[in-house]
Amino acid sequence: MKIERIHLTLGLVWLLAGMTLGQIMGESGDHGQLPTHAHIMLVGGVLSILWAILYRAFAFRQGVLAWIQTLAHHLGAAGMVYSLFNMYGGGQPNMALFGPMIGISGLLVMISVLLILIQSFLNRN
Ligand code: HEM
Ligand code: HEM
Repeated sequence: MKIERIHLTLGLVWLLAGMTLGQIMGESGDHGQLPTHAHIMLVGGVLSILWAILYRAFAFRQGVLAWIQTLAHHLGAAGMVYSLFNMYGGGQPNMALFGPMIGISGLLVMISVLLILIQSFLNRN
């Protein structure tokens, strides 16, 4: 499967998941998960679909770099969302676990952005 198709499909799934959480927030009147919703929509959904468009528009290479970028982005997004969901779920979150987890997940998302920058330099067309 082409990298851009993976980003597009997962991005649309992220959007549906985030909108479902948005609906639950709206119906319950409890907006406590706003940070989780915002990052599902923007990091999971919008950025993934942007990556799909960039891979297609600039004919980015589909090799090892692209696979690492895809893995870093979606694992990072999932780690961020899982941590945020637990941190904003009420109660006493285990910050010894979710603190470092969100840090590492954020780093993965940043690595994915760096790899997109490298791809853009590799394909100067
Ligand atoms: C089914 C569709 C959606 C529903 C039901 C929904 C619901 C919500 C709710 C209830 C809030 C909390 C508002 C507040 O407490 O201030 C919120 C915030 C937010 N939503 Fe959505 N949303 C939807 C779609 C979207 C989409 C498509 C995006 C972006 C692509 C998005 C991005 C955001 C962001 C960034 C915030 C945080 C805004 C802030 O920081 O104040 N949402 N949404
Ligand atoms: C390295 C990755 C990232 C980290 C560690 C991170 C962390 C955070 C934190 C700590 C907040 C404040 C949450 C609060 O209100 O308590 C926040 C808010 C926000 N972030 Fe991020 N973020 C990251 C990436 C992004 C990206 C890539 C986007 C958009 C594409 C984004 C969009 C937002 C928005 C719209 C808010 C305001 C909504 C809210 O209050 O939750 N973030 N982020």
